[in-house]
Amino acid sequence: MPERPRPSRKKLPEIDVLVSEVGPRDGLQSIRRAMPTEIKLRWIAALAEAGVREIEVGSFVSPKLLPQMADTDEVVREAVKIEGLTVLALAPNLKGAERGIAAGVHKLTFPVSASREHSMANIRMTPEQAIEQVRRACEVFHPIEAGISTAFGCAIEGAISEDWVMRLAAALAEAGAASVGLSDTAGAANPAQVKRMFTRLRREIGDRTGAAHFHNTRGQGLSNVVAALDAGVTTFDASQAGLGGCPYAPGATGNIVTEDLVFLLESMGLRTGIDLERLISAREIILEGLPGEPLYGHVPSAGLPKGFAYAAAVSNA
Ligand code: COA
Ligand code: ZN
Repeated sequence: MPERPRPSRKKLPEIDVLVSEVGPRDGLQSIRRAMPTEIKLRWIAALAEAGVREIEVGSFVSPKLLPQMADTDEVVREAVKIEGLTVLALAPNLKGAERGIAAGVHKLTFPVSASREHSMANIRMTPEQAIEQVRRACEVFHPIEAGISTAFGCAIEGAISEDWVMRLAAALAEAGAASVGLSDTAGAANPAQVKRMFTRLRREIGDRTGAAHFHNTRGQGLSNVVAALDAGVTTFDASQAGLGGCPYAPGATGNIVTEDLVFLLESMGLRTGIDLERLISAREIILEGLPGEPLYGHVPSAGLPKGFAYAAAVSNA
């Protein structure tokens, strides 16, 4: 296997929780108009400047289906130059993985739907075929993350068997995935279910337990984060300004809002390495690229509360 590219390591302070920004992928893929490449790159740079350590910068999918993502090759090639940033991109199949490897991505993430119908609608493959793509991609690249979409319920199929999700996770780990996360694509999850499923996932695949990916469709996103923290999850996907949805999950809205997530974690004493004021100012770049786009988030509207202290400041005090 060729030596994989790694993010250049500037000395970064320790963190407790990794906030993985997915706005440039999950957010932008669900907005019809495309953000110009140059503005995407400025947005990504501003996020990194605010202390975000990992960004899913785009997806290597069919440009006919998602023209907003057609520039992912170029975005990756530029983003990997940012010091200290881990550049992640989504790939649904081997062809996507090949494009990602050629562009020099640090990590690839494969979506594997637990729902058969969502899987067919999204990537025109069965879950078994998607696992096979992960297996073949793992033969040529490392690390590959898998995210089990619709793990908590599907907008098309409804309830999803938890046993089936666990079997999928075990099969993905066996196929070589470095980590397997659970995604609430439909925004259907509740905290009791989240805690139960991530606890089971850890029992099933141990330290290959991956990210929690929540959409805030029914306003349960941050409660689900707290439940996942209780189950030992240490990586959370979020989207700046709550941009997003899934083009193949009817009714799904954006991811949990990065600004609100960082505030929650830091207030709870968990270090993220992210500066909230700098993060909030990066919102202006989104509006430059997508004038008039609705931006969400409570913390950006209310500001930081009087006496707010970052977790690092508290633990060093
Ligand atoms: N990147 C670019 N082009 C790709 C590609 C990729 N990863 N995978 C396939 N293609 C191209 C093929 O080369 C072919 O091109 P051609 O028509 O010019 O010959 C065309 O797409 C069809 O290829 P095929 O293998 O038959 O794919 P498909 O039509 O069954 O589509 C996917 C499969 C996965 C490519 C497509 O469903 C897809 O891009 N889905 C992504 C949806 C998504 O991003 N959802 C949100 C993220 S969870
Ligand atoms: Zn998503």
